[in-house]
Amino acid sequence: MAILVTGGAGYIGSHTCIELLLAGYEIIVLDNFSNSKPESLNRVKEISGKDFGFYEVDLLNRSGLEDVFANNTIEAVIHFAGLKAVGESLSIPLHYYHNNITGTLILCDVMKKYGVKNLVFSSSATVYGIPERVPISEDFPLSATNPYGRTKLMIEEILRDLYIADDSWSVALLRYFNPIGAHESGRIGEDPNGIPNNLMPFITQVAVGKRRELQVFGCDYPTVDGSGVRDYIHVVDLALGHLKALERVISSNGVDAFNLGTGTGYSVLEIVTVFEKIANVRIPYKIVKQRPGDVAVSYADPSKAKNELGWTAKRGIEEMCRDSWRWQEKNLNGYETSISRIEININYKE
Ligand code: WQD
Repeated sequence: MAILVTGGAGYIGSHTCIELLLAGYEIIVLDNFSNSKPESLNRVKEISGKDFGFYEVDLLNRSGLEDVFANNTIEAVIHFAGLKAVGESLSIPLHYYHNNITGTLILCDVMKKYGVKNLVFSSSATVYGIPERVPISEDFPLSATNPYGRTKLMIEEILRDLYIADDSWSVALLRYFNPIGAHESGRIGEDPNGIPNNLMPFITQVAVGKRRELQVFGCDYPTVDGSGVRDYIHVVDLALGHLKALERVISSNGVDAFNLGTGTGYSVLEIVTVFEKIANVRIPYKIVKQRPGDVAVSYADPSKAKNELGWTAKRGIEEMCRDSWRWQEKNLNGYETSISRIEININYKE
């Protein structure tokens, strides 16, 4: 019985694939490489020492997706595949709704057809909108401030309705806070297309000289130093949270949301200070005005995941910075490589 990982070539997906393989799971990766590169899967094989099934399929290609289910015995799905840039979603909302929501609807319909009803869904803390207070717990009001966040919120509601209609489904909605860091090998990591939207990849690109300086979006928030505060979580801790959620969906029915965060917030300027110390590199920055849509402070109450999944984040902020730096320093251009197709020895399908 295999675990299907949609979007498994991505940042969080590839880190989760490694932990799944090391834990002894058989996996099948599905990715369309719209926001990832084949090389990441070669590195997953290199690090884990294990082979796995791969299909280059877009979730909007129903027949291609049916092929995957018809030719494999799938026990559960971990669903990462989706577009995730907040700013981009504001300029091309229809593309985000079609890609993220229609893709998920097709996935769930094919899962239902083949009797696969265990699902771990990659949601986001963005579904909390502008939180009334912190720390944020799963019973907080939900809202979205952008089309990307609305796709996550809508998909959560769709999956709840699916369970109401058929209580043999088992779904975990994982609300990520701010994933950063990389596998300790330095062989996989975050590889954003173009100018990074997120803080850590921008910092690491400044550190290697790809970007001249960091723009700090606002220093007039009601926080320790005026800059925005977030709950940064190591991507390996996040990956391990998916394995705990997988165990849960395989062994029970229902739909539950879980915060995957550390419960500790750090400001932008605190992150810069820690990174400079760890990397021994100066990060020049310039304070600019607040980024529209940003909240001042966001960090999790992670107690539900601890109590119900037996999961807590273990890696601290220095390790997150060290691992992010190692990845960037060893891979100045991310996965840019001459290899255009994956070399792992498995059933490669268009
Ligand atoms: C973190 C902090 C910025 C860049 C987003 C999405 C969320 C999730 C994670 C997908 C904030 C500040 C950033 C920069 C800066 N993505 N910053 N200069 O906005 O908390 O969350 O990514 O699920 O859905 O909303 O993350 O890394 O963009 O920002 O000052 O160049 O860093 O203002 O305070 P964010 P981020």
